[in-house]
Amino acid sequence: MAHDHSSNKMKRILSGVKPTGKAHIGNYLGAMRNHVNMQQDHENFIFIADLHSLTTVRNKAELQELIIDLALDYLALGLNPERAVFFRQSDIPEHAELTWVLSCLTPMPMLENAHAYKDAVAKGKEINAGVFTYPVLMAIDILIYKPDIVPVGKDQKQHVEIARDLAGKFNRTFGDVFKLPAPYIPEEVAVVIGTDGQKMSKSYGNTIELFASDKALKKQVMGIVTDSTPVEAPKDPDTIYKLYSYFATEDEKKTLLERYRAGGMGYGDAKKLLLEKIIETFKPFREERERLKNDLAYVKDVLKNGAEKAREVASATKAEVWDKTGLTI
Ligand code: ADP
Ligand code: TRP
Repeated sequence: MAHDHSSNKMKRILSGVKPTGKAHIGNYLGAMRNHVNMQQDHENFIFIADLHSLTTVRNKAELQELIIDLALDYLALGLNPERAVFFRQSDIPEHAELTWVLSCLTPMPMLENAHAYKDAVAKGKEINAGVFTYPVLMAIDILIYKPDIVPVGKDQKQHVEIARDLAGKFNRTFGDVFKLPAPYIPEEVAVVIGTDGQKMSKSYGNTIELFASDKALKKQVMGIVTDSTPVEAPKDPDTIYKLYSYFATEDEKKTLLERYRAGGMGYGDAKKLLLEKIIETFKPFREERERLKNDLAYVKDVLKNGAEKAREVASATKAEVWDKTGLTI
């Protein structure tokens, strides 16, 4: 069984996604697809990082909807609650409790050097203390479950490194509790590009969403930025081609590449091919999501059961931390 802790054969993975907006193909290829695929031969802990959303989301109904949406996305994509422990971060109080303990070991410069924080400063964004200490909460999200592997996109690499550093620091200071996790970042999908050629991200408004309506999807794909090479001219593989290549077979990729090189094909035609490909790829997931949407009681039940299983692990880790630090008398 996937979460038979006694077998000790399967490596454990852990990952989470923040419910802060509509999931896109960057999230899918860089993270969510791996989370689902790895459930076959790993012990999976996958969670909805809803505490992290509070750094930006300021509306109750919106947050509730974002959480349910992300749960639906994962289940529709095939995350199997029989195989994976699928839960909500906020259901496990130990995340917040242990974050405090780890904060007390975290050097300020480590956080001052974190990319996400530096980026927010550079862009003149409003920065709350949550944004600043985000990597500590993320470190605990990981360490509490003692995973071997953390599958994420490249933008999260530094956060996993911080988790390793903090785990080492705790272990050296108080005695061994935490396992040092390794990030898992497959090169081909480490950074999926968006419709403007930059990294695809909810915060850049350049996404192609996983579960958008056909109409919205068409708008996103047709909105891919292209250069002004005329229809007749030969073309170099571009954003459209790159996005297509994530979903196409080798033969399909070759055919499109030949059409680019030959000239005579406009970008509009390439976009249509990409759109069809995306629709075809996600059709079964979209159907499943529609079905699940009518059974939210089931979805909530899955999260509740997942939380019970996650809590067993989290409370055991907390007991170790309390013991090592002297919070027990
Ligand atoms: P966003 O940047 O859109 O807000 P998140 O920070 O919620 O995305 O990321 C959720 C997961 O998806 C993380 O593991 C992240 O590394 C991965 N991810 C996000 N965008 C991309 C991308 N463009 N390419 C590859 N992985 C990505
Ligand atoms: N920071 C991640 C993101 O922005 C989400 C996240 C929170 C996470 N805690 C985690 C990912 C623990 C992996 C492991 O996408």
